[in-house]
Amino acid sequence: MTAAAIDLAVIGGTGVYAFPGLEHPERIDASTRWGAPSSAIVIGEVNGKRVAFLARHGELHTFAPHHVNYRANIDALHELGVRRVVGVNAVGGIRDDMGPRVLAVPDQLIDYTHRVSSFCDAEGEAVLHVEFGEPYAESLRRALLDAAHRAGVDVVDGGCYGATQGPRLETRAEIARMRRDGCDLVGMTGMPEAVLARERGMEYACIAVVANWAAGCGPDPDAPISLAEIHAHLAAATGHVPAIVRALLAH
Ligand code: HPA
Repeated sequence: MTAAAIDLAVIGGTGVYAFPGLEHPERIDASTRWGAPSSAIVIGEVNGKRVAFLARHGELHTFAPHHVNYRANIDALHELGVRRVVGVNAVGGIRDDMGPRVLAVPDQLIDYTHRVSSFCDAEGEAVLHVEFGEPYAESLRRALLDAAHRAGVDVVDGGCYGATQGPRLETRAEIARMRRDGCDLVGMTGMPEAVLARERGMEYACIAVVANWAAGCGPDPDAPISLAEIHAHLAAATGHVPAIVRALLAH
């Protein structure tokens, strides 16, 4: 455990492998009962506040969404005393106003993954049935939206994040079903991160960064999704994330 309390942790997704301008950075190679987190946790200062950064896919993007050790990541942050977590997640856009480069702070999710999604994994352990009707911490969501406003970054308030198993992209029929289910965004990493944070009693919110139209969506529904397109949109849109976090910490 490090000296002063950590105000916030940022878990960076695809395209976000470091937090630019983190002052006095210190790298921590944590280990947990569930194994090692995806990367070293870098703790530093922003606006005089202590921030922890973790690269969800590893600093060299070596862990695919279904290979991320979500339990180790959340537990390591919790052990460091982190109580608020912002996950940055690349997504495909389903809803008409959620095209490439849009940023959104979702308020609901549907889990289509088949991943272990609890710390409670052995017989005899206390069984946790956490409240999850509102999967994201509303106070942190509001703080993010206010921060984005102060930073002059346009962000969509709300939306339903559909979490898929990956690593493949979805079929058009799957996305059509997700749309009917009420999903506005689709991504591969939003779960089980959100529920594990809840199990550990941490506030959790997501900044979803739209990298592409989801399969069959957008103005040209027949267009295939290209990785080059995903990376170009992410490179442009994730650039706004540090400004939002800085504004959040300035308050
Ligand atoms: N589907 C799932 N995850 C994603 C997508 C997508 O279209 N784009 C970026 N992450």
